[in-house]
Amino acid sequence: MFLPSPWRQYFPGVLALAEQHEVWLDSAATAQKPQIMLDTLSQYYQQGVANVHRAQHPPGERATRAFEEARSLIASWLQADAQDAVIFTKGTTEGINLLSQALAHHFQAGDEILISAYEHHANLLPWQQLARTHDLQLTILAMDDAGHLDVDAAIAQLSPRSRVLAVSTLSNVVGHQQSLERLLSAARQQGVWSVIDGAQAAVHQRPNLQHLDCDFFVCSAHKLYGPDGVGILFARAAAVTALRHWQFGGEMVRSCDYQHAEFLPAPLGFEPGTPSTANIIAFAATLDWLMSLDSAAIAQHEAALHAAVLEGLRSRGMQIIGTPNCALVSFNAAHVHPADLAVLLGEQGIAVRAGHHCAMPLLKSLGLAGAVRVSLAMYNNGDDIQRFFNALDQALEILQ
Ligand SMILES: Cc1ncc(COP(=O)(O)O)c(C=O)c1O
Repeated sequence: MFLPSPWRQYFPGVLALAEQHEVWLDSAATAQKPQIMLDTLSQYYQQGVANVHRAQHPPGERATRAFEEARSLIASWLQADAQDAVIFTKGTTEGINLLSQALAHHFQAGDEILISAYEHHANLLPWQQLARTHDLQLTILAMDDAGHLDVDAAIAQLSPRSRVLAVSTLSNVVGHQQSLERLLSAARQQGVWSVIDGAQAAVHQRPNLQHLDCDFFVCSAHKLYGPDGVGILFARAAAVTALRHWQFGGEMVRSCDYQHAEFLPAPLGFEPGTPSTANIIAFAATLDWLMSLDSAAIAQHEAALHAAVLEGLRSRGMQIIGTPNCALVSFNAAHVHPADLAVLLGEQGIAVRAGHHCAMPLLKSLGLAGAVRVSLAMYNNGDDIQRFFNALDQALEILQ
């Protein structure tokens, strides 16, 4: 299958795996890293480290400058307005936990939180816990037959008791890019805070937060070719003041005495303790590099790989979950347990995920014990896909 990737050469991890005859088709879980990220990390550590935002010495000033430059670069990647806040977190999961706790004081018993039926546990469990402890209603927005969010039904479900709408724009299971403009605008009109889980979508389409009319947006660096343990919580200027401080410690106070403290506003007030400085700087360098690439060419390449995966699976009679249109496909083979298939693929050097993909209620509602997921990134090529299908054919011969 002739679909070369011009970007593969920049990913030493992909090349190292290939030398061991391994193919990475699990990028929706985490992405391999480009050389620029590794170089930036190593340079940062080799030049001498310092804490940010607390020291008066020149190394501290240099680290703080680099850290805040990283924040500015990430804000420009998000296409955010200057007055909006970019808060560093450990990842999407922490960003949503932060929101669920930092907004909690606004809610009264009987208020409503709405999420879609296809959310990752990261965008379900924090709200579920909040609903349970504060006696709130957690409403699950239904999907239509094609596996998309039913936007008209969702708009009709917004009510005067609705407080938060939290949805992802690309499901990690059904792989469908969900258009949410109308729903977000209805939420805005009704004064409902909107949270976008961009963990998957941000990888395949650079966010434009001037256009995407949400109050909060979260994503993770490690899925975006960046380091582990870093995430972004974007908060619109008009919404960020609604957040109450949620974790407490060093470098977040304006003043402090034994019985009382006053805290800094966002972002620093929401980043207590020593941040993941090196990783944040390396993440910004990764995004800077991503912005220098031809995004249309990457999208075209990923679409061609995706079409090849879909076509190959369909021609083999696999059951495709939903109607995926971006970067990943979840599927099952008749009479085969997805975990067995994933193990046999793994033994042949093909790394795919199998299981409930942290979306157990969705899989249950579809009557599935699990599914196998193939997920793609810019570094995959036609050979990867061909090897996947060769391995799939072998595995199915054994299992069926
Ligand atoms: C849609 C979605 N949301 C949230 C998450 C959680 O991301 P993290 O584990 O980086 O916090 C994931 C991870 O797979 C995801 O796919």
